[in-house]
Amino acid sequence: MRMRRKNNLEGRLKACGDRIIYMDRDVLDFSVKDDKDILDLKKLFKRDGPVELEIGCGKGQFIREMAKRCPGTNFLAVELSSNVIVEAAESAMEEGLENVIFLRGNARYLDCFIPEKSVRCIYLNFSCPYPKNSYYNHRLTYKDFLEIYRKILVPEGEVYQKTDNMHFFEFSIEQFTANGFGLKNISLDLHHSGFEGNIVTEYEKRFSDMGMPIYRLEAYMIR
Ligand SMILES: C[S@@+](CC[C@H](N)C(=O)[O-])C[C@H]1O[C@@H](n2cnc3c(N)ncnc32)[C@H](O)[C@@H]1O
Repeated sequence: MRMRRKNNLEGRLKACGDRIIYMDRDVLDFSVKDDKDILDLKKLFKRDGPVELEIGCGKGQFIREMAKRCPGTNFLAVELSSNVIVEAAESAMEEGLENVIFLRGNARYLDCFIPEKSVRCIYLNFSCPYPKNSYYNHRLTYKDFLEIYRKILVPEGEVYQKTDNMHFFEFSIEQFTANGFGLKNISLDLHHSGFEGNIVTEYEKRFSDMGMPIYRLEAYMIR
């Protein structure tokens, strides 16, 4: 189902100013890389510092809480939908969080905008599982996405995934292990695992309230 555009969406997006960066470019063929599209992260955050990235941030609860807990870290949050990213950016501005910037667009094109080897870790929180077999290549742990993560992560960088969907979790494990990533700290029931410091996202609360276990893994590059 397509989401209805919110009232005054354009005005609200405009009011967020450069808190939202649009992953749009002059050359529409994204397979053609153009250095001028690569973001200057130091300029963007007005400081140096480690960079962490969430993909599919929704309304931004997770990334805003991370930004509060880790004021020395710079956070990027990617989201496809303008309807939801506008809420995330407005909340971050209301909360006075200077260390989180939002990127509107498809994670598929991240390597056109994010410098190589610049991201310390990537958070995939309740990414859409795309259960239809024919949509497997839209899943954010499909090999093509893993190749993009490999480019933008620092060599010791890691990917952290949480999901409620067992089939998607299995698919992710297969994709990570077949594509040069090792796995650690795998949990099949995060909320009863003793894991400390978990930030419960909007979707996580929804699924957990329904009694569903939450799956989590950490992936690191081995080649
Ligand atoms: C199920 S929601 C989860 C939102 C939030 N992470 C949470 O846990 O509450 C998944 C979000 O990922 C976004 N998304 C899906 N595919 C994406 C892609 N290829 N690039 C960027 N965002 C994407 C969707 O628009 C949606 O807002």
